[in-house]
Amino acid sequence: MYKTKIAGIGHYVPEQVVTNEDLSRHMETSDEWIQERTGIKERRYAKKFEETTSILGAKAAKIAIERAGITPDDVDFIIFATLSPDYYFPGSGVLMQRQLGMSKNEIGALDIRNQCSGFVYGLSIADQFIKTGMYKNILLVGAEMHSFGLDFSTRGRGVTVIFGDGAGAVILQPTEEENQGIMSTHLHADGREAEHLAFINPGAHGGVHNPEHDYGYPTKEENEYGGLFLTDKMWEEGDYYPNMNGKHVFKYAVTKFPAVIMEALQQNGHTPQDLKMLIPHQANLRISQFVQKRMKLRDDQVFNNIQKYGNTTAASIPIALSEAWEAGKIQRGDLVCLAAFGSGFTWGSALLQW
Ligand code: COA
Repeated sequence: MYKTKIAGIGHYVPEQVVTNEDLSRHMETSDEWIQERTGIKERRYAKKFEETTSILGAKAAKIAIERAGITPDDVDFIIFATLSPDYYFPGSGVLMQRQLGMSKNEIGALDIRNQCSGFVYGLSIADQFIKTGMYKNILLVGAEMHSFGLDFSTRGRGVTVIFGDGAGAVILQPTEEENQGIMSTHLHADGREAEHLAFINPGAHGGVHNPEHDYGYPTKEENEYGGLFLTDKMWEEGDYYPNMNGKHVFKYAVTKFPAVIMEALQQNGHTPQDLKMLIPHQANLRISQFVQKRMKLRDDQVFNNIQKYGNTTAASIPIALSEAWEAGKIQRGDLVCLAAFGSGFTWGSALLQW
């Protein structure tokens, strides 16, 4: 059986830099508060009415394809991870396929919705296809355009200051080389925590998961069938932004990250000291620092770039991996661990040799 290697990697972040100072002109927040709690100094926002999640994804994909030494026509499957798709449906994978001029080949395009864990989930899916020999060049993309759907009033500050736009992409290929490729992936979820980090409205939930909450659904007399996806009440109250119980997310993340990293290391007979590089999902610098300390990792073993980009959700790991590789911090054969945690809650890890 083959193993799966990363044959090409690339990332794209939009040009527009938005500092904490910039945000403080729209909401009551400060550079000091944001940096102290999250480590974030600035983030990027995509060009409104010009760029979308699938377009950011296509820009990263082009770089990964070129670096893998292939052409878009060689790609035989697409996996697209995002929580901010261009459309509710169809997924952004088909839009990126069209953007890259690959639609004529009619290759499959799978969208996955595992939020901050999307890239690790996608890598695990791709790994199964490659190992069995079904595909030879899988394009896996994590991309987000959060800036379109955030609340820039003071009410939204707990969430809005954290997130940024960007995209990362890899080309995955089979390898029979020793000391190269994905060794194992580990995926987890706990749906009991779903609403602690969620984009609930508009949606097709009909209030079923939270009967105590008044979503403002019309009576049968007012509207026999429709009016459920986005009610007047949701609209009037601006109840159509992401929700996050930050403290609860933090508490869970700092236990699940070390656990899922250790799971990957132990399965392969390694210890944290063996790691050349840990690439944690860039949720919050404080979370990464906590994990580093807990696992007794040196500074040079953990890569962080949340200071520049904020939390780019499904894009954060491939952007960080791409930057670490570009900076020469990861070389052929190095032991690398990717670890993610996010909405769902979902979390996961992948251990690989570069
Ligand atoms: N600027 C200034 N004040 C803010 C603020 C902002 N951007 N956001 C929230 N506050 C205020 C709150 O309103 C609250 O004020 P109050 O005490 O008067 O009510 C106070 O700061 C503390 O808020 P709280 O939410 O308790 O802060 P916190 O210490 O938990 O930090 C997070 C908030 C979001 C930074 C932190 O909980 C966190 O990072 N959680 C994990 C989030 C995460 O990683 N999400 C992505 C997962 S993939």
